[in-house]
Amino acid sequence: MDASKSVQPVLETERLYLLPIARDHAADLHLACADPEVMRYVDFPASQTVQDTARRLDLFLVELPDWHATWVLSCKATARVIGFVNYHHRENCNWRLEVGFLLARAFWGRGLMREALQALLEYCFLGLAMNRVEVTVNPANKAAIRLIEGVGFRFEGGPLRGRQYVCGEYRDLLIYGLLRQEWTRSHALKHALLPDAVPQASAAPDTHNEKGGRRAA
Ligand SMILES: CC(C)(COP(=O)(O)OP(=O)(O)OC[C@H]1O[C@@H](n2cnc3c(N)ncnc32)[C@H](O)[C@@H]1OP(=O)(O)O)[C@@H](O)C(=O)NCCC(=O)NCCS
Repeated sequence: MDASKSVQPVLETERLYLLPIARDHAADLHLACADPEVMRYVDFPASQTVQDTARRLDLFLVELPDWHATWVLSCKATARVIGFVNYHHRENCNWRLEVGFLLARAFWGRGLMREALQALLEYCFLGLAMNRVEVTVNPANKAAIRLIEGVGFRFEGGPLRGRQYVCGEYRDLLIYGLLRQEWTRSHALKHALLPDAVPQASAAPDTHNEKGGRRAA
């Protein structure tokens, strides 16, 4: 993907750039995608070779922003690519989508994914004007559960039995959801904004806007 022509913006946090994924990110992402510990709860198996990782990334490279989009996490300090975040199953008619995330093990526990996920949520709620963001997560994935609960997702149900099929086995998943109104409220509190400075749920998004902004439902 040529980032300069993409509708996907570059997102920025304190320590990271979130860049639209490109073919040449495969080698860096292979470190994470080949690690069975990282891939334990992910919906595709650990790669054996860089080619496996590249083939998997080919799916992410298909430009379909109405359905999915992926950003790699690039450390500002080192320019190293250490993981990715994405949205998928975007349904414009329902103003909802799902998000996913993955980080190389060497970088776990430093608050990096929390930073990246906050930036992605801001883009989903304000840039894409979504009303609802979902995550499905393996009940044993304590790190992911802690992460999503920490940014405001609420447990909504599960285990959803046999929801995921990976490496010949069906897996149960929990479902979590976050509504724009909830996110806006917590975001506003965090940044100590005055109530009248908080974007209203019905207002058109004004940052990171995709061409055309909010579409008629
Ligand atoms: C889930 C994952 C992205 C978390 O990334 P991370 O950068 O280490 O997370 P953060 O450092 O931002 O931590 C977020 C919260 O989770 C907690 N956490 C991190 N690892 C944890 C673990 N192994 N067990 C329990 N809590 C954990 C942190 O303490 C933090 O909680 P706090 O905000 O209350 O302090 C990372 O572990 C990962 O890539 N896992 C493999 C891929 C995966 O499972 N993706 C999710 C598929 S749904």
